[in-house]
Amino acid sequence: MIYPLALAAAVLSSSSLAHPPSPRIVQGDWFQPRDSPVHELFKRDPPNPNDPNFQNSYPPGWATPPVSSLPQSWLNKLASIQLPNVSVSNPNNGYPTYADGESPSDSTICSFTYQCTTSTDLVNPPDGVIAISFDDGPTDESPTLYAYLQENNIASHVTHFMIGSNILSNPLTMQSAFNMGGHIAVHTWTHLYMTTLSNEALLAEFGWTMQIISDLTGGRIPMYWRPPYGDVDNRVRAIASGVFGLKTVPWNQDSGDWAIGHDPAYTNSSVQAQMEQWITGSKSPGLLILEHETNPNTVANFEYSYPLMKSNDWKVENVAEAFGFDWYQNSANNNGSAAAMSVAGGSVSGASATSSSTSSSSAASSTSASAASTTSDSGPSISAAAAGAGGANGSASKSSGASASVGTESAAKTSGAAMRGVAPFSYSQAGAVASMVIVSLGTIVSML
Ligand SMILES: *[C@@H]1O[C@H](CO)[C@@H](O)[C@H](O)[C@H]1NC(C)=O
Ligand SMILES: *[C@@H]1O[C@H](CO)[C@@H](O)[C@H](O)[C@H]1NC(C)=O
Ligand SMILES: *[C@@H]1O[C@H](CO)[C@@H](O)[C@H](O)[C@H]1NC(C)=O
Ligand SMILES: *[C@@H]1O[C@H](CO)[C@@H](O)[C@H](O)[C@H]1NC(C)=O
Ligand SMILES: [Zn+2]
Repeated sequence: MIYPLALAAAVLSSSSLAHPPSPRIVQGDWFQPRDSPVHELFKRDPPNPNDPNFQNSYPPGWATPPVSSLPQSWLNKLASIQLPNVSVSNPNNGYPTYADGESPSDSTICSFTYQCTTSTDLVNPPDGVIAISFDDGPTDESPTLYAYLQENNIASHVTHFMIGSNILSNPLTMQSAFNMGGHIAVHTWTHLYMTTLSNEALLAEFGWTMQIISDLTGGRIPMYWRPPYGDVDNRVRAIASGVFGLKTVPWNQDSGDWAIGHDPAYTNSSVQAQMEQWITGSKSPGLLILEHETNPNTVANFEYSYPLMKSNDWKVENVAEAFGFDWYQNSANNNGSAAAMSVAGGSVSGASATSSSTSSSSAASSTSASAASTTSDSGPSISAAAAGAGGANGSASKSSGASASVGTESAAKTSGAAMRGVAPFSYSQAGAVASMVIVSLGTIVSML
C-alpha cells in the first residue's frame, strides 16, 4: 500500500506525525442468539469464509460502499445522534482544510493531523507500558509476522487494526490472527482520509469493517479504530463513537516503517535506530508506536525492536490491555463468549436473549438476560462484556487452512465482478437481512 500523502506529512513533522496457526473458531458457531440486541446494528447470517462466494456478502473492496448498501439501522442511529458543527474537510494533500478557514487544531474540529487530541482519544499508555499495534492487515506478509508473535508468546498482546477490504480478500488470515489470541480492531473499509468523507460514507467505512470482523469472530463487536493517516476530527469521532461505540486510537510515535522503500530518508536501519532510541528512553508516558504488517521491512522492524522491549523491561500489551478496557464491546477478550448488549448506547435494552443450543462443541450457550445493556451518556456499556460466560474456549481447535486461501489485495480489487452472481447473502440485502429474526442457532449452523 502506498502512502503518498502520509509521506508528505512525515516530512513536515517527524515526531508525532507521519504516520499459520490453528483456528479455534468453528465456522458457523455463533455465540449468541440471532435475535439478541447485539445484532440491532449487525444482525445477519455470517457467511462462511471458506465459501467461494464469501465476498458476495460484502460490498466490493477498495471502494467506499454506497449509501444503498447501508442497513437502515445504521442510518437510523446516525439520525439519532448529535454531530458537532464540523464540515467535511478538503483533502489538501493530506493537510485537511475546513470551510471558512477554521483552524483544524481548535477544539471544535480537533484534527489529529495538526496534533490535536481529545480526552477520549487513546494516545498515551500508562508509564512503562508499550502498546503494540499493527495496521493495514491482513496481508500476504501477515503470516510471517504472526509466526514470530507466536514464537515469542505475544500473539495475544498485540492489536491488529485491519482494513475491511483486506479482510475481504484474506478472511482466513484474519481469523488466524484472532484464533492465536490477537486483538482485532478497525482500520476502515478502504483506508481513505476519513475527514474528507460524508457522514453516510463514514457509516459505510466503519460499519462494513465492523460487520466483517463480527462475522468472522463469532459476533464480537470491535471497540477500537485507528484513523488511516491519523486523519480524524470531531465529526468523525462523533460518528465512530456515537453510532458504533468505537474508541479512537491515534499514536504517540510513528515508526516510519511504512516509508521504508518509499522515502530515501527512511531505511531499515534508520527506522530501527529510532525505535531503539524510544525503547531505551523515557518510560513516561508509555509508548504507542505506529507500526504495520504490510511488508518485510515493517516486520523486520518489529523483529528488531521486540527483543529491546524485553531487555528494557517494558510491559508489552495490546491496546485494550494497555488502557485497561475490554477487547470488544461485547466480550472481554477472544476466548469467552460474546455477550448480548446494545451497540453504541442503542435504544434496545434488556437483552431477552432466548438461548438455544448449538450443534457445536464448545460454543455457546450464549449469555442471556444478565448481559443486558446498561447504556449511559458516555456510550456503550462495556461492563456487560464481562458477563459473558461459557464460550468457544479453544477446545474446538480445527482445520488450519489459515494459509490455504490467502488472497492478495489485487484479488480484492477484482472481486466486484463476483457481485453480479446470485448471492444468498448479498450485501445489498443487508437491510432486509438485518431485520430478519432467526431464533435457532442450530439452523444457522446447518445452513453454513
Ligand atoms: C457552523 O459552522 C460554520 C462555519 O464556522 C458557521 O458559519 C455556522 O454558523 C455554524 N452553524 C452553527 C449552527 O453553529
Ligand atoms: C529490510 O530488512 C528486511 C529483513 O532483513 C529485508 O527483507 C528487506 O529487504 C530490507 N529492506 C530494505 C529496503 O533494505
Ligand atoms: C483468555 O484470554 C486471556 C487473554 O488472552 C488469557 O489471559 C486467558 O488465559 C484466556 N483464558 C482461557 C481459559 O483460555
Ligand atoms: C475453557 O477452557 C478451560 C481449559 O480447557 C476450561 O477449564 C474452562 O472451563 C473453559 N471455559 C469455558 C467457559 O468453556
Ligand atoms: Zn493504515
